[in-house]
Amino acid sequence: MCGIIGYIGYKNSLPILLDGLRRLEYRGYDSAGIALIENDKIEILKKAGKVSDLQDKLKNYSSQSTIGIGHTRWATHGAPNDINAHPHNNSDNSIALIHNGIIENYQTIKKKLLKDGCKFQSETDTEVLVHFISSFYKNGNDLFTATRLALSEVEGAYAILVISAKEKNKIIAARKGSPLVLGIGENEMFVASDASALISYTNKVVYLDDEEIVQLTSNNFVTKTITDEEIEKQIEKIDLEIGQIEKNNFDHFMLKEIYEQPESVKNSIRGRVLLEEGDAKLGGLQDFHDQLKKTKRIIITSCGTSWHASLVGEYIIEQMAGIPVEVEYASEFRYRSPVINSDDLIWSVSQSGETADTLASIREAKNKGAKTFGIVNVVGSSIARETSAGVYIHAGPEIGVASTKAFTSQVAVFGLIGLLLGRQRGMQIDQGRIIANEIISLPEKIKKALNCVDQVKKIVDEFKNTSNFLFLGRGTNFPTALEGALKLKEISYIHAEGYPAAEMKHGPIALIDDKMPVVFIVPKDNLYDKVMSNIQEVRARGGRIIAIANDDDDEIDNFAEFVIKVPRTLNYFGPILNIIPLQLLAYYMAIARGCNVDQPRNLAKSVTVE
Ligand code: F6R
Repeated sequence: MCGIIGYIGYKNSLPILLDGLRRLEYRGYDSAGIALIENDKIEILKKAGKVSDLQDKLKNYSSQSTIGIGHTRWATHGAPNDINAHPHNNSDNSIALIHNGIIENYQTIKKKLLKDGCKFQSETDTEVLVHFISSFYKNGNDLFTATRLALSEVEGAYAILVISAKEKNKIIAARKGSPLVLGIGENEMFVASDASALISYTNKVVYLDDEEIVQLTSNNFVTKTITDEEIEKQIEKIDLEIGQIEKNNFDHFMLKEIYEQPESVKNSIRGRVLLEEGDAKLGGLQDFHDQLKKTKRIIITSCGTSWHASLVGEYIIEQMAGIPVEVEYASEFRYRSPVINSDDLIWSVSQSGETADTLASIREAKNKGAKTFGIVNVVGSSIARETSAGVYIHAGPEIGVASTKAFTSQVAVFGLIGLLLGRQRGMQIDQGRIIANEIISLPEKIKKALNCVDQVKKIVDEFKNTSNFLFLGRGTNFPTALEGALKLKEISYIHAEGYPAAEMKHGPIALIDDKMPVVFIVPKDNLYDKVMSNIQEVRARGGRIIAIANDDDDEIDNFAEFVIKVPRTLNYFGPILNIIPLQLLAYYMAIARGCNVDQPRNLAKSVTVE
């Protein structure tokens, strides 16, 4: 979703802002722009399209400015065109503003401003906000106070940066619901939507919390709440290396991240598996063991790929620990008055830790008195900070819009949680040891599962012009089917559906004809024969069978047109291995169809609006 970068210091700000915008491209956007203070004037330069289009526009622009703000916009109010692109300015061009989020009461504010004679250029809620701030500025307030007073009347979500040509030595930043992080340099300050945009300059950061506003000068920052209380913020060091957010020798971030999975899963489980005790040790839960013992029900909230991993988590926790688990789409949970009891635990799963719906589900649960835990990748993100405890998945930065390594790490972490809860509730040590050993073996098995590119490419050659795909699986591989379908949809734009294999005959079977590719996930488990029967049903109707099977299964070769084999594992962890060929299938399909893999149309990496 929208990306924000700001710089104030002693260097030429233009290249720093453009570099920041490029680093934020992965969040998803459709226009880009910057505002600089050149001498005593604000210059706004913006363009629909990619950051490279903005750079082309700026080819002959020479700047001396040492203060500026930059934005990548993911359209909400108004089409993605030059006019609606950010920054927006007030009528006399003394103030410029960029914004991530949605101002929900912008119509009411706009009506008031129109009455006062204000003229608008764009259709955005953001332009309303800059004029609104300007109305307080004209009343003699300084930029900080004017912004604070305007925000105190605003409903909705925002992360904003504001600059004024009349106060050339400061940037005002504020957040509610959308992330912002300050980067503290030597006589220079940065502010961005996420740390990837500032990590090449500093590793000292300050995370802003909701309803906080900060005044940044080149060597200081002062923070208050929107209600005018002074607050002290902690400077933290982040452990992020520039190499982690570069493509290195890969063509795309998605491919790099697919191949990183042996390592990312290893990082997720490192130091957390107790082989001898047949148990797991999770530092973030250490102080909450009593609470976990008392838990009567776990409700997991999440979205998208994280929701698919949560479905696997449901299976793992119920089977290993016997605790009832419900998995909810965070977006549905928040609005349906969920019944939450005092012994329930709400556990939210999110790669970015910033997904607006998931955050809102946590707040809803907290309002009802529930304990909230997180399973999060991005350290210091809002969900990590707003939950009372949790587990980081430590998968490293995920830049490709299509989530890959976060999924496998989330499932691995659910394995650790299941093991911990299971051992608390009577799981025998022998069983614990079997599970612990299997978890340790996963990185090597993922390496083997990655050896399927040749077969994947054959499937791509055969089906690259098809319009539909079905993905079918059972047990933990029903979520794998959903995830395989989602990957294909989002980056290759082929319509795909995931179903429980046995549900097929209740409707989707009507779609089967000799053009329909059907991907079966058919590991050698207790449901193998049942899934084989489903394969027969599709074959009988002419469907084209692609099977993801185990490497010790010879029978499947007689029933499927294409077979990809991965190592065998316990049912709990099947999705970690079976998803690998499906991620590669989506990737190579997208390449064959000429799609933009890392920036698929309309998608945003971090969905910070409802
Ligand atoms: C799919 C994808 C999305 C995210 C979803 C939740 O490839 O990336 O479906 O999984 O937007 O995001 P997080 O996990 O950051 O809360």
